[in-house]
Amino acid sequence: MDLKQRIAADLQEARQRTHQLLATVDDERLVTQHDPILSPPIWDYGHVGVFEELWLVQKLSGARPMDEWLMNAYNPFDNPRPLRGRMKLMDRPQTLAYLDRVRGRVLDLLEEVDLADSDPLLRNGFVYDLIVQHEHQHDETILQTLQLMPGGYLPALPPGRSARPVEDSMMEVRPGRYPIGTDAPEPYDNEHPRHEVELGAFRIDRFPVSNGAYQRFMDDGGYSRSELWSKDGWDWIETFRPEAPEYWFRSPEGRWNTSRFGQIVPVDPALPVMHVCYFEADAYARWAGKRLPTEFEWEVAASWDPQRKRARRYPWGDEPPRADHANLDQLMFGPAPVGAYPAGASAIGSEQMLGDVWEWTSSNFLPYPGFVAFPYPEYSEPFFGATFRVLRGGSWATTPRVARVTFRNWDSPIKRQIFAGFRCVIDGME
Ligand code: AVJ
Ligand code: FE
Repeated sequence: MDLKQRIAADLQEARQRTHQLLATVDDERLVTQHDPILSPPIWDYGHVGVFEELWLVQKLSGARPMDEWLMNAYNPFDNPRPLRGRMKLMDRPQTLAYLDRVRGRVLDLLEEVDLADSDPLLRNGFVYDLIVQHEHQHDETILQTLQLMPGGYLPALPPGRSARPVEDSMMEVRPGRYPIGTDAPEPYDNEHPRHEVELGAFRIDRFPVSNGAYQRFMDDGGYSRSELWSKDGWDWIETFRPEAPEYWFRSPEGRWNTSRFGQIVPVDPALPVMHVCYFEADAYARWAGKRLPTEFEWEVAASWDPQRKRARRYPWGDEPPRADHANLDQLMFGPAPVGAYPAGASAIGSEQMLGDVWEWTSSNFLPYPGFVAFPYPEYSEPFFGATFRVLRGGSWATTPRVARVTFRNWDSPIKRQIFAGFRCVIDGME
């Protein structure tokens, strides 16, 4: 398949996923803002088209916007999330018609462009990959909305992956200078440039923290002992009074249940804990006598091959994810039990670094030394600073296209709607 055919197929695949996610959501719920922290699904639906028109039509051809109003209504900076439910937006038929119209123009232009061009936007199809990854990222955000939306959402739930008996342990990383980030032309500026960081010796959990382990923290008074929490974390506790991860409820018999896309199921102790915020992850780590990894420690544990003294592209090597490497791409509609992906282990032996749940790190989202915004300043730059923490690894809902060891996600430390959990580290060697 030549590059243009590959691009057309990728664009098509992303769009099909978006349509599929929203096909069974009724019109009422499609246009409703279910929570101030997430857009009404119809906004994401239109936004992926507007972003595509901007980059793959206007920027590549110099064409005027098809409709100025759309450019503004679906621009995230002009329209903060909590207000999107009150805006006038395209309805479903209008959205579908607009998406098709944009896609038609995009495919016509794709025939004409020269992907060997020296323009970094076009070279090797860079800007097309950017748009494909963007739509997949919004698909994960849409899934967060479907999880949160009252009344449920019924994906066909595939059979889960079975648990294998595993022994929890911690894997060692020796002190040293390690490469971080990438110089490959990945679409995201914040992963560039590749540079070295100095790390002390540490050990990292072999697996993400499980529901079972997290319940021991809860049973030990985790949510009521202020000494386990950071100051901001305890403020968060006093404001919201949470007693468990988001979407957990006590059954009449006092057991923990969780709602999974509207279906009530018992909390499975073998699964990685999910829907915890940064503060909960941080408090658990303190309770366990550990701490959260920095994003650099996380990346080195996931990528560094000590034998060959090089960083891998994925924990298991350089080959793209297979079904037995990692739980990605919405194939299981939830995390798999800890220990379910031995083939996906990193060189040092940490497992499930990619897929299942995003993992909170202790790092603020900051530019790497020598950062240059590309191709537009608003992807990363406005978010740099102490407001956001970095999450790594990707979840069960993440496209394999962005699940790579250098990919940096970020969110505010109080957010729990993300498909996120964590693992811990301890300083020093055994
Ligand atoms: C990387 C997931 C934090 O959703 O704000 C989507 C991705 N950027 N459109 C976000 C993104 C622009 C971004 N996250
Ligand atoms: Fe976006």
